[in-house]
Amino acid sequence: MLPNQVGKQLGHPTYSLSGWLVSKFFKWHNQVLEENAVKLCNIEPNNTVLELCHGPGFGLHYASQLLTGPEGKLFGVDHSQYMHEMASKRMKEQISRGKVELYCSDLMAMPIEENTVDKVFHCNCYYFWPDMKAGASVIHRVMKPGGIMVTTLRLDSLKRTISRRALNGKIWNPEVYMDALQSCGFTDVRLEDNRDKLIHFQAIFATARK
Ligand SMILES: C[S@@+](CC[C@H](N)C(=O)[O-])C[C@H]1O[C@@H](n2cnc3c(N)ncnc32)[C@H](O)[C@@H]1O
Repeated sequence: MLPNQVGKQLGHPTYSLSGWLVSKFFKWHNQVLEENAVKLCNIEPNNTVLELCHGPGFGLHYASQLLTGPEGKLFGVDHSQYMHEMASKRMKEQISRGKVELYCSDLMAMPIEENTVDKVFHCNCYYFWPDMKAGASVIHRVMKPGGIMVTTLRLDSLKRTISRRALNGKIWNPEVYMDALQSCGFTDVRLEDNRDKLIHFQAIFATARK
């Protein structure tokens, strides 16, 4: 695949051979980030949780296992029809029980009510958003006061992808995203280095102040 094609598929996987290859890459490369984003959110059994840009749905799967209380609810949003259907298959049983709702939507238009979400997590995606500040602002809007947002990423592999020109023109620097979060009403915005077995990754934390 050409770098440009890889970048496009990473940001919006389509029903195609390259979309399928990218979905395999998410499974192989990103599951650890999804699992750790869920762990770092400290999800409680009756929380309302939202995963943005869920891709194939591994994070949804981990999060749903923690939402064991009667009020526990999980939302997911991804603008790729291919990823929406892949994740919907993975979460079929929980969707049929009404515990999980997935939307095929741009995050800017997600149909989630204001002040309803306790925890938000996302992995590998803020650099695909056309306007990071607008993205941070819609996240803030749906969160309850004091809600926690966690995003995980692997800066080393992100830099490798950038050097191969697969993310041309994308603003990947976590500090830019952290500034956007702060300017939209998040506090305690911080980046931590972390490790899971041999994998070194970063996590950004933010608290929604209202
Ligand atoms: C690199 S993939 C990451 C998928 C998954 N979180 C992971 O780490 O494996 C980026 C995902 O974000 C989605 N995405 C990108 N921009 C989006 C937007 N503006 N609104 C909704 N989804 C978006 C893409 O469709 C894709 O599934």
